[in-house]
Amino acid sequence: MNKIKTVIAAGGLGTRLQGFRGNDSTKILLEVDGSPMIIRQIEQLINWGLNEFIIITNPSFDELIKDVVSSYFPEKNISFSIQYEQKGISHALMCAKEYIHSGDTVFFILGDNFFEHSPVKNLNLEEISVSKGAHIFSYKVVNPEEFGVAELDSNNNVISIEEKPDKPKSNQAVVGVYIYDDTVMEKITTLQPSARGEYEVTDLNNLYIQDGKCKNVTIEGWWIDAGTPDRIIELEKKLT
Ligand code: G1P
Repeated sequence: MNKIKTVIAAGGLGTRLQGFRGNDSTKILLEVDGSPMIIRQIEQLINWGLNEFIIITNPSFDELIKDVVSSYFPEKNISFSIQYEQKGISHALMCAKEYIHSGDTVFFILGDNFFEHSPVKNLNLEEISVSKGAHIFSYKVVNPEEFGVAELDSNNNVISIEEKPDKPKSNQAVVGVYIYDDTVMEKITTLQPSARGEYEVTDLNNLYIQDGKCKNVTIEGWWIDAGTPDRIIELEKKLT
């Protein structure tokens, strides 16, 4: 049987959260309603039915993150890989390369993204692993210019994604969850850094779009990208 490998991007320093509640380490260890964010994230993923995890960490906090995670989940199958340089979201995913094998399906999540409902609740992951390609997840927002923005056809095929466009083609913001087939690592190696010097997840998704193999799922319920103090407080309110 093909395996679903869940990669959690947790290597960002979260500069917008430095100092918040005395935080002097990394966003992913900040307490959210009493538990470190990474623990909240793993709990969310377990609730969605996922069970094999690879956590991408920052070199300064790798040991600390490992200690915290293994103290909460001593029995779980969790691997770790260090992202030595902060070169973007696709670059973070590439750090999981040694754990992804032929036939695997890659479920990729940005560690600070939280959802009311499982984005995959209406998807058959077994079917997806056979059909190949990519799935992105999007959410209708009023400020699409702050996100990756997806243009869709009537069958939920993705026609294009633009990263933080001045003139968005839709209100569908691409959220921080992605599903990829086993060609993903090979595709990442062909990417060039963007104008902001990063290997963009949007550029990776556009490679699947070029092949006609990128599907959209519009998510329901709330979505919080917990990257700022306000968003953390909002998330805590939702969780209690
Ligand atoms: C990243 C992605 C963007 C996506 C967003 C979701 O943006 O590049 O496409 O919409 O996450 O949170 P960043 O937060 O790195 O600017």
